[in-house]
Amino acid sequence: MTKVAVVTGSSSGIGFETSLLLAKNQFKTYATMRNLNKSHVFNTALKEEIPLSVVQLDVSDEASVNIAMNNILKENGRIDVLVNNAGYSIFGSLEELSLEEIKQEFETNFFGAVRVTKAVIPTMRKNSGGTIVNVSSIGGKVGLLPFFTAYHASKFALEGYTESLRQELNDFGINVILIEPGAVGTNFMDNMKNAKNYNPNTSPYAGTIQKFFEGAQAIMANSIHPNEVAQVILNAVNSPSPNIRYSVGKDGESILKNRAQLSDEEMEKWARESYMDKKGFIRK
Ligand SMILES: NC(=O)c1ccc[n+]([C@@H]2O[C@H](COP(=O)([O-])OP(=O)(O)OC[C@H]3O[C@@H](n4cnc5c(N)ncnc54)[C@H](OP(=O)(O)O)[C@@H]3O)[C@@H](O)[C@H]2O)c1
Repeated sequence: MTKVAVVTGSSSGIGFETSLLLAKNQFKTYATMRNLNKSHVFNTALKEEIPLSVVQLDVSDEASVNIAMNNILKENGRIDVLVNNAGYSIFGSLEELSLEEIKQEFETNFFGAVRVTKAVIPTMRKNSGGTIVNVSSIGGKVGLLPFFTAYHASKFALEGYTESLRQELNDFGINVILIEPGAVGTNFMDNMKNAKNYNPNTSPYAGTIQKFFEGAQAIMANSIHPNEVAQVILNAVNSPSPNIRYSVGKDGESILKNRAQLSDEEMEKWARESYMDKKGFIRK
């Protein structure tokens, strides 16, 4: 039987590559995005007549989620794979971030995944199976970077929630797994939102932020192509017994290795050196 897959945030990056790869591997794929004006990204792929449809879905909008998911369910009677990928980062000092900006971050990165997941559980439970893939981050395992407090918190939340939900859905044959990429070359940095209250001319954080950005280039220099993340997702959903979590990228490996071996203080020092001393997370 053809398996049906839904991917959120498919207009670019990891979501785009994952939708494409799933469709090319015979999953009937719904590449969802909040803004259909961006659906042209799939124009070339659609000429290959792969089983891919583009559907509007904004993970932060309850009505949009319900309409999209109900239509997909009406068409197919099932959903076998859900990839919760939509996400972004708000950047700024906690002092200059508004509570509203922090809540918005959670509304997409955490509650967005929860919302779409709640829409697929009944059908997966009735069909006694399915895989829910939560795209977290290595930043969901380790609070590495300053000025990403809300982003780290939203991904830490996704990780703890996933571990609990796995046990809840285990008896119904539903798998919930985590993907933890390191730096990936996507539109992520361009799509990052800055704290509205941040003014580089007056902010007490301006100097540190400037230094952080210069150092962050060393981190991004080790970024991988998003199709590597898509391949890990494809392998996981095709596996009869996928792992709980998959870290993707050499920087992630290096971060997890250090996290396991270093004390909290040593880990913090190492993380600071990675950006302040422009060393990056992979050391030769
Ligand atoms: N790039 C990295 O280094 C990295 C590392 C670790 C984890 N990740 C995670 O990977 C996931 C994908 O990010 P990416 O790197 O591929 O970045 P990206 O190129 O910026 O893609 C993010 C996608 O999420 C979509 N999106 C944002 N808010 C949405 C909403 N409310 N409803 C539906 N879609 C929404 C964006 O849509 P629009 O085009 O409409 O904005 C875009 O399609 C994110 O969860 C991110 O946290 C990325």
